[in-house]
Amino acid sequence: MSISSRTDASPILHADHLAKDVESGERRLTILSDLSLSVFPAESVAILGQSGAGKSTLLGLLAGLDTPSGGELSLFGQSLLALDEDGRASLRAGRVGFVFQNFQLLPTLTALENVLLPLELSPSPGAEAQARDWLTRVGLGERLNHLPKQLSGGEQQRVALARAFVTGAELVFADEPTGNLDPVTGERIIEALFSLNREAGTILVLVTHDHALARRCDRCLRLEGGRLVEMAHDEVMA
Ligand SMILES: Nc1ncnc2c1ncn2[C@@H]1O[C@H](COP(=O)(O)OP(=O)(O)OP(=O)(O)O)[C@@H](O)[C@H]1O
Ligand SMILES: [Mg+2]
Repeated sequence: MSISSRTDASPILHADHLAKDVESGERRLTILSDLSLSVFPAESVAILGQSGAGKSTLLGLLAGLDTPSGGELSLFGQSLLALDEDGRASLRAGRVGFVFQNFQLLPTLTALENVLLPLELSPSPGAEAQARDWLTRVGLGERLNHLPKQLSGGEQQRVALARAFVTGAELVFADEPTGNLDPVTGERIIEALFSLNREAGTILVLVTHDHALARRCDRCLRLEGGRLVEMAHDEVMA
């Protein structure tokens, strides 16, 4: 997507002068400072950067799961800073999917129940069929009743992906979505992500160390020194 075609639309997600500091013992640690980002309809954006650069912290802020120390942040045209935790959760409900780096599946629920969870906010008769369908699409049709501890790391990651997609979210944040997958399964997941992006216009904001995945995105950004730097596609090595 060219820069000019983006300028007509309003951003779905907008961060300006975003900052995040945390207390670390006696010291204050600056993770993000003066960070700006705009994400537009139907875009796919990859965020790269070294371990510890602040990528997971940034994703949590952008999704309204965590609060910044300073700056402006809006999602779907609404300021996230004006909302409390419940307000942010209602803004996200059904519209935002999130895949955590450590999956965060509920340990006492089966794969199917974990995927059903976001659908229970607005119950519908087709919910179970939808959840089964998504688990089948990520290759786990035979693992519906397994608890997370009975699943491999890559299988848990795929349950987390199914849970993020099942509501038909407009915007999916995923933290290293292929990090635990073999190349063949990873490719299948990448295909599923980008077919959603192409067919439903689902916006993808992906943190990844996987250059094959990053190169498929419209834009690649590197998080460095607390800020995002736009990368040329050929900077993302084969
Ligand atoms: N609550 C916290 N208290 C203190 N330090 C924190 C806190 N949260 C994050 N950090 C620190 O902030 C830095 C950024 O962490 P973050 O998890 O965002 O990195 P990352 O870029 O996602 O790394 P990785 O690629 O390894 O997943 C790290 O150095 C981490 O130790
Ligand atoms: Mg991380």
